[in-house]
Parts: sequence; structure tokens; C-alpha cells
Amino acid sequence: MKEKAFIFDLDGVIVDTAKYHFLAWKNLANELGFDFTETQNELLKGVSRVKSLEIILNIGGVTLSEEKTQAFLVKKNTEYLAFINKMTADEILPGVLKVLAFLKNNNIPFALGSASKNARFILEQVGIIDLFDAIVDGNDVSKAKPDPEVFLLGAEKLNVAPANCVVFEDAIAGVEAANNAGMVSIGIGSEDVLTEASSVFESMDQMSDAFLNNLIK
Ligand code: BG6
Ligand code: MG
Repeated sequence: MKEKAFIFDLDGVIVDTAKYHFLAWKNLANELGFDFTETQNELLKGVSRVKSLEIILNIGGVTLSEEKTQAFLVKKNTEYLAFINKMTADEILPGVLKVLAFLKNNNIPFALGSASKNARFILEQVGIIDLFDAIVDGNDVSKAKPDPEVFLLGAEKLNVAPANCVVFEDAIAGVEAANNAGMVSIGIGSEDVLTEASSVFESMDQMSDAFLNNLIK
């Protein structure tokens, strides 16, 4: 048996925080005088905070001074954190705890590989930070997904070769990052969207035991 490791994205894979990002960005767009829809929000999945604001300003055709840009970034994150402050373990997505328990029972190490600078706080809020053998988040990387940096760093921290790593991702850019790292990519979401993933499941609880057993072989 080859030594395997798993790497999980956070937002949209472990917890459904995409809705909180959306609400905070939508309020900001409204304040700037334009609307921001859930469809447009898809463009922000897996994308850093700074890049997300750039995309939103582009949608609204708005240009901001550097000072205002910084102020809006702080404002968005303050509003987002107000939601995160209220999060509990109930917001862990279906099937996640079962998969993590399966990995623990089989002595397979696993890491977090997220673009979020709030990742550690979110894992603490939902009470699962201690389960992870390594955490790589938005504070640790300089190149955003689809660059493979976040996942390669995760593999390095777990001391497992990239080719033996399995990544769970809900974002197109994240699936690309996993593929670029030479890892197996499992998409969580729609097959029509995550077309480059090795396999796609609507949700983590759709994965059979047989499928999981096969992944760790
Ligand atoms: C990603 C999310 O995980 O993290 C993006 O999919 C988000 O929507 C990005 O913009 C950065 O998150 P944060 O918490 O650092 O603003
Ligand atoms: Mg995600």
C-alpha cells in the first residue's frame, strides 16, 4: 500500500460559508450602488479576498482609491466575521465528519488547503481544528488557486508525495490547482461545473464506503 494523504478545501467543502461571503459582498455592492447576484457569486469561489473585490468592482463598473479599497476590504471581513462568530458544529456539511473519522480510523493523514485567511478561526468555531494534521491557509501562500502552491505545501507538511494526495474541492480554480499539483481531484458540487475533476459528488455524504476504500488503496 502506498502512503496516502488527503487535503480538504474549507469554504464549500467542510462548511457552507459561501453564503456568508455572498451576503457580505452583496451588502458592499449595494452600498456602492449596484446589485450582486448568487450567479455572479460563483465567480468568487476559491478566489482571494482582494481578487474578489476586484471582480465585484468590475461587475459594478466602479473604481475606488487605494484607501477606499482597503477600507472596503476591512468592512467586508468585519461583516463576514460577524457571521462566523455565530457558527457552530451544526454548520459542518453533511458527510464531512464521517469521512474525517474514516481517515482517522485508517491512519491516513489529512490537511486543510484553503485560500481563506479566516480558516483557522472557522475550524475552531466548528470545533474540528485539532483533527487536522496540517493547515495551509491564505496566510501561508503567495500564489492563488489554480496555482498548486497551497496543495503542494499541504503535501510537504504531511510528508507525502503529491501524486499520493487526494484533494476535495468545490471551486473550478481549486480543482485546477489540485490537477496542477499532480493530485487526484474530487469535486464537491455539480458535474456540469467541475468538469476537470477526477470524480464529482453533489455532497460528501454521497460517497460510498467502497469509493473511500478505493481512494486509500
Ligand atoms: C475561499 C473562498 O475559500 O477563501 C472565497 O472560496 C474567499 O470566496 C477566500 O474569498 C478568501 O477568504 P477570506 O476568509 O480570507 O476572506
Ligand atoms: Mg471552496
